[in-house]
Formats: sequence, C-alpha cells, structure tokens
Amino acid sequence: MTEQTRSLGCCYYPEHWPRSIWAEDARRMAETGLTWVRIGEFAWSKLEPTLNDLQFDWLDEAIWTLGEAGLKVVLGTPTATPPRWMLDRHPDMLAMDATGHPRKFGSRRHYCFSHEGFAAESDRIVTLLADRYGRNEHVAAWQTDNEYGCHDTTISYSDAARAAFRRWLRARYGGIDALNAAWGNVFWSMEYRDFDEIDLPNLTVTEPNPAHALAFRRFSSDQVVAFNRRQVEIIRARSNAPITHNYMGRITDFDHFAVGRDLDFASWDSYPLGFLEDRAGATPDTQRAFARQGDPDFQAFHHDLYRAVGKGRMWVMEQQPGPVNWAPHNPAPLPGMVRLWSWEAFAHGAECVSYFRWRQAPFAQEQLHAGLLRPDSQAAPGLEEAAQVAREIAQAPAVSAKPSEVAILFDYDADAAWAVQPHGAGLSYFGLVLDLYKAMRGLGLSVDILPATTRDFTGYRLIAAPGLMHMPGDLKSALAHAEAEVLIGPRSGARDGEFSIPVPLPPDFPGLDVTIAHVESLRPDSPAPLDQGGAFAGYCETLDGGAKVVERSATGAPALMREGRVSYLGGWPDPVAGRRIIAGLCARAGLDTVELPEGVRRRDTGAERFWFNHTEHAIRVEGRDLPPLSVTRETP
Ligand code: GAL
Repeated sequence: MTEQTRSLGCCYYPEHWPRSIWAEDARRMAETGLTWVRIGEFAWSKLEPTLNDLQFDWLDEAIWTLGEAGLKVVLGTPTATPPRWMLDRHPDMLAMDATGHPRKFGSRRHYCFSHEGFAAESDRIVTLLADRYGRNEHVAAWQTDNEYGCHDTTISYSDAARAAFRRWLRARYGGIDALNAAWGNVFWSMEYRDFDEIDLPNLTVTEPNPAHALAFRRFSSDQVVAFNRRQVEIIRARSNAPITHNYMGRITDFDHFAVGRDLDFASWDSYPLGFLEDRAGATPDTQRAFARQGDPDFQAFHHDLYRAVGKGRMWVMEQQPGPVNWAPHNPAPLPGMVRLWSWEAFAHGAECVSYFRWRQAPFAQEQLHAGLLRPDSQAAPGLEEAAQVAREIAQAPAVSAKPSEVAILFDYDADAAWAVQPHGAGLSYFGLVLDLYKAMRGLGLSVDILPATTRDFTGYRLIAAPGLMHMPGDLKSALAHAEAEVLIGPRSGARDGEFSIPVPLPPDFPGLDVTIAHVESLRPDSPAPLDQGGAFAGYCETLDGGAKVVERSATGAPALMREGRVSYLGGWPDPVAGRRIIAGLCARAGLDTVELPEGVRRRDTGAERFWFNHTEHAIRVEGRDLPPLSVTRETP
C-alpha cells in the first residue's frame, strides 16, 4: 500500500495573456486551492520566433511569477506545435495521411515521428529548455510533447516513415526470406526480393497483408517510444524533476506501457462529455441519459489503465471544467459533475487533477472551450467546484492505493491486431475490454489493469484476459498457474506473433481442452442468444473439446467452457451476459459483488470506500442514500 497526497492544478498559457495579469492569475489560482500549473507545451513560436532567435525572458518571468505565488510548475516541451519557419527548413517533416496527402500546418501535431530532421529540432529545443529550467526551483515536473497520437498522428505514410520502416524490418527479420515466410507472402505473389521493395501498407488495391499492416503499426508505435525517449534522456541529464506525458482517452495506436517505462508517472486528459459523444462507444440511450455526466465507466477505465501505465502513479493533467468544443455535441456538465469527476479520479489513484484550462481563450480553435474563468476573467461555473474540491481534499485522509483482487489485462499490440483484422464492422479490442470492465464495475468491483507483460499474478483472485490475439507461451503458463479464476477468449491466442493462425488451433492453452473450430462475426441486429439470458453480440466462436460446458447458446452450442480455474468465453458478451458471467466467476473466487443500479459505481482505496451516483436521482443502495450527482466517502 502506498500513500500519496492529493492536489489540484490547472493548465495555463501565459503567452496568451498580457504580462500585467499573470500575477493576479497566479494569486487567484493559489486562492482557489490549486498547487500545480502546467505551461509551455504549445509555446514554441513565442520561445523561438525564428530559428535561433531565442526569447526565453517571458517564460523566465512567467515561471517566476507562478512560483512566487506558491505554485509548482509542470513545464511542457513545445514539440507538438513546431512553428511555421520549421517547414521552410524541413518541408518534408509533415506526416502523410493514408491517401498520400500531407497533414499540413495550421493546427497542431504536424510532424512525422520518423523525420530525423524534426527529431533533431526536438532535441535542440528540449535541450535549450532543460538547460535553462532543469534546476529551476519552481519547475517541479516536466511533460513531454502533448498527447502523442491525438488527431490520428501516430501513423504517417511519409517518405521518412517508409525509409525508417524498411530499417526496422531489416533489424527485425534479418533476411528477406524470413520476412516473406513470416508474413506468408507466397499468398497472392506478394514476395519481396529485398527490404527496399517494401512499401507502406496504404493505397493498395484491396486490403494489404494483415501481417504487413500489423508490422507497420508496431513500427509506428516504436517510433513514438523512441521520439519520447530522446526528450526524456535530454531532460534527465539536466533535471531531477519527474517527467510525464499527457496521454489521451481511447488512443491506442502506440504502446503506452512502452512509453511509460521511460517516464516517472503517467498523466492523461479527461474530457468525459466529449468522450461520451465521440469515442466511449456508448449506445444512444446512454448518450442521452448521461449527456451532461459522461459515461460512468469510461473515465474510471482510463484512470485504472493509466495508473498501470504510470507504474502506480497517475495524474489527470487536463480535466474538463465545462463544455468542450470538439465533440459532435458539446453540452455543459450538470452542476456537481466537475467535483464528481475530480473525486472519481482521486478514488482511482490520481495524485493531481489539473483543470484545462485556467481561462477560456477568446481566439482561435478553442474559443468555445470553457475554462475555470470566462474570457473576461469572471468565474465560470467550474471554478467554485474546483475550490470546493480543494477544500475537501485538505480535510481528506491521505490516499492509500491498494491493489485490487480483480484484474484485466490490456495490451496495445492486441488492439493493433484487432484493428488490422476486426473481422466485423465496429469490433475492437478496446471495446471488448471496456465491456468486461463495465461488467465488473457494475458488480461493485475495484479493478486493476495490468500490461500483458505481467507474469506475477500474486494477490489476484479473478483475472480477465479477453481478446489477446497473440499470447506468448510464458503468459499462458503464468495464467494457467495463477491462484485465480482466469477468463480468456474470445480470440485469445488466435494468431501467432506474425499474424498467422497457429496450429494446434487456438487457444492452445495449457490444461484447457478447448479448440476454436470456427469463428464468425455477427450483424449488429443479429446477436446469438445464450440459454441463460443475454447474447453474444458481434463476435462468436464454435468451441470444441472436452472441457466442461458452463454456458450454452440458445441453440445448444458451447459458449463458455471451463477446466479447473480457467474459463474460455467463446464470444463477445452483451451487458446482460457479461455481468452474469463475471458474477459467476466472482462467486467461484469468493469475491463479494453487488448489483449496482445504472449510473452508480463503487471504488475502494486502502482508507476509503467511495460511492458515485452519476444520475440526477437519489438512489438507495446497500442501505445508504446516494444523493443525485454525488460522491459519498466512507471510512470502513
Ligand atoms: C486536449 C489537448 C488540449 C486541448 C483540449 C481541449 O486534447 O491536450 O491542448 O486541446 O484537448 O479539450
């Protein structure tokens, strides 16, 4: 059990405002109860208006002004927004989209991770910043870049990416024959004679070889890791302050665990209402019911995921404080939600919740994005809720994170494999894992998310590892020997590491006599009902073998099979089936569950039990009344 303090912060852009108001802003931040302020991450054109014309005096003053008010600064490296002059130096640094068009200047994240010229510019500006502020007493943390992968920027089909991909392939496969064999290029005469013949997997007539597409995704992920590592090494050599990156919600196209290994803690950007409209995968009913509260599980899932990415340490670097500007619809949160989201983050282990942004910008792309202050510096509704949370955390017991007894594995490579071959429209690994997470949360469970590199499962009583299309042998054996109920499937071990169907057929799991004979994907309007209620939706497998049949489809086919403590789930369960199957496993594992009403969630830390009511109605659950839109904290 580790103890940590809770704090609040905000994102601030001194370069957007006259110097004359910085001190007053800083004073009001401190008065609100904020202790952290993140700055700098988009300020390159103000730091270096033209090449080598360095203008750091304003940043010196901003840091000093904020520090004098008692605030600790998170300093961002500005590499997400290279200035316009950079393009004159490196016209080919832009990422290319899959249609071969450049992703042009005029917004942000306009660079290709594989462009060595830009990477050197990144080294240069990060070195300058770290030299100047590495020992600054007010700079208490660093953020690298901003939201890698946001706006679909992990993958680039540029010339630089092609050249780097060929180098990556050469290093991975050694010889071209090995690559041809691994990918099965004999199919459709796709064999190559040399690595230099290999192109990027875009603009092909029909789908490219999935092995080729997966290799390109793996390569693209490695490029993000390498880009981030260069910044980290430069900063570390010059500063003892911890380094983080602010990840985004539901961005899975690079391996966050791999990036996270180089960082001191993870942080992420939580926009519950934007996510509900845009990427939570919620049904229209849920979108309507929670339009001003957000999906009750989506933020929690990311808190748990990023706690794992941060090796136990997680912040919310950007917390939605009011309406955002970027989703299809942008309602205002209900009164109380900014507070609820903040406490929910703390309950899931956040050390700091930092609101985006201090003051709403009257200009440019985000003029319709709320801040804690309006553009005229009057308080926006979020400000008082932030102040309330600040008062509350000052009185709250120290946070003690404790490991849960329930775990779900999450693997970015599996997400890439599903993306390359979803087999049915709308099917994604992320969606499958989120659905099982929801089933667990609906039963009142606190969940740890673990990387698929985990081999020691000590302490867990239920482990779900759905959808891991590639399962290395040592992972299978670690799970087979875990002192826990283990749930695998669907699609577990469905491919080898190079994306071929292995023989013996999947899942080929030690001690489990189950074979996947056939697989099918289902139309959204044609789920496959299960005989105990609910259905498989979207994806369904035909299971053979001698393991015990625990559940059957309505037509009598095996749906859930078990041997010892390992269960194989032969499809994508809908919410009814998912909750029942998880509840059954919890009963076997001796875990307490409670059927929570829609919108109510529970979370245990070492010192407290939290209840969250995301609905507009009072709800009675387990002998207590939860007011509408409330956080209830209990000390057992
Ligand atoms: C985040 C981003 C911020 C801001 C915010 C608006 O994705 O990191 O810079 O754009 O969204 O909601």
